[in-house]
Amino acid sequence: MPRIYIETYGCQMNVSDSELMLGVLGREGYVRTDDPVDADVMLVNTCAVRDHAEQRVLGRLGELKRYKRPGDVLGVVGCMAQRLGPTLLERVPQVDLVIGPDGYRGLPELIARARDGERAADVAFKSWEHYEDVPPVRSSQVSAFVTVQRGCDYRCTFCVVPMTRGPERSRKLADVVGEVTRLAEQGTTEVTLLGQTVNSYHDGQHDFAALLRAVGAVEGIQRLRFTSPYPTDFTDAVLVAMAETPAVCEHAHLPVQSGSSRTLKRMLRRYDRERYLQVVAALRQAVPGIALSTDIIVGFPGETEADFQETLSLVEAVGFDDAYTFKYSVREGTPAVRIKDHVSEETKTERIGRLIAVVRRVAKQKNIRLVGTTHEVLVEGPAKRGDLLQARTRTNKIALVEGPAEWIGTYRRVRFTGTTGSTFTAWPVESTPNVLPLRVADRGAGGEAWQPPT
Ligand code: SAH
Ligand code: F3S
Repeated sequence: MPRIYIETYGCQMNVSDSELMLGVLGREGYVRTDDPVDADVMLVNTCAVRDHAEQRVLGRLGELKRYKRPGDVLGVVGCMAQRLGPTLLERVPQVDLVIGPDGYRGLPELIARARDGERAADVAFKSWEHYEDVPPVRSSQVSAFVTVQRGCDYRCTFCVVPMTRGPERSRKLADVVGEVTRLAEQGTTEVTLLGQTVNSYHDGQHDFAALLRAVGAVEGIQRLRFTSPYPTDFTDAVLVAMAETPAVCEHAHLPVQSGSSRTLKRMLRRYDRERYLQVVAALRQAVPGIALSTDIIVGFPGETEADFQETLSLVEAVGFDDAYTFKYSVREGTPAVRIKDHVSEETKTERIGRLIAVVRRVAKQKNIRLVGTTHEVLVEGPAKRGDLLQARTRTNKIALVEGPAEWIGTYRRVRFTGTTGSTFTAWPVESTPNVLPLRVADRGAGGEAWQPPT
């Protein structure tokens, strides 16, 4: 049986796309290998959002080509493949095929052509493509990503995604529910719905509120997450659906990008600082205790020290539980390239350092207050280090807990015993798995306060 090795960079949607590619090739008899040395086909699923991500892939291709035996195929897929297209074949002679996010159905054909010595690229957008008939091969049975929307119709001036993933389109609600039902039947209890602006989901008949309710109603689904929503696409209907669907977790990743209204306008984000804060307030009202994380870019062209200060003060004002911080990276073909006053690398480095310090301080202050509280966690697997298990709360906090491997995939009740500032150590407080009322008890409080025994 031919063996396929896939290395995945970038966002969760790439992880989900890699699972689809394994599905496409699985139908052709391929089996997965985690070692490139064994592979007949090696694929690198790439990200194009920042230059740094692309440089890493180029470096990695240089390493992977060493594992290539005669007849083996090395392919670049994903957003960087889409962005660079056939030029990637010229640039890296060992690469045999280049396929963008809408072309994965053609993998077997391009692999066969590569074996015949023909190097080819397919970067055509296919606005109908949802890979509806492809059964993804998932690595986790506990928790699953489910793509509900592909592409992006927004035009944030810094962002290459509309150029690499094409026009926005939503899967049919019934198809999503069908996939989630099959997952639940196989024992998956947590799903994360994926889309670039996932809460703008609309399949022509149903909006995101309807989708949340329908997926949340699938028997066996205990936790429902979604990423990434666009701040101004939280309609009242979506907020009510979140509040009324018990499976919807108390966490939202809400990319803000900047705390300065002036910068947000030039980023062509569809909100200003005040509006973003209103959305935060509305979310907190609808889902008490909701944890919030975000994405922030520093050094967008024209960003002044005063603009940057507004980003720092927004982090404090919102009190984010977590934030992914990025230095602005120029992306060829995006509108921001033409904006004047690019910020120096030195200033970007200095600002991101200050931002990370504030993000960590704010998160730590919140997390320290949670030590001693009890939470329902889903045990995901072994922790990366040590003999502990990694578990996650509904609010997306990671806790390391001692317990037997049989706990993987089950829900447990734990008490937080300490924090590094971002993650927690925890102690099991009772061992009956999957007790439903615990889920409800957790809701809203971000964990009940723990009273020391008297
Ligand atoms: N659709 C997502 C964003 C996808 S890109 C959303 O809006 O929710 C993921 C993150 O990468 C963005 O939120 C942004 O913070 C960052 N990013 C995108 N383009 C970038 C660029 N040119 N430079 C630096 N960071 C960027
Ligand atoms: Fe990019 Fe903005 Fe879409 S960040 S993915 S253009 S919402």
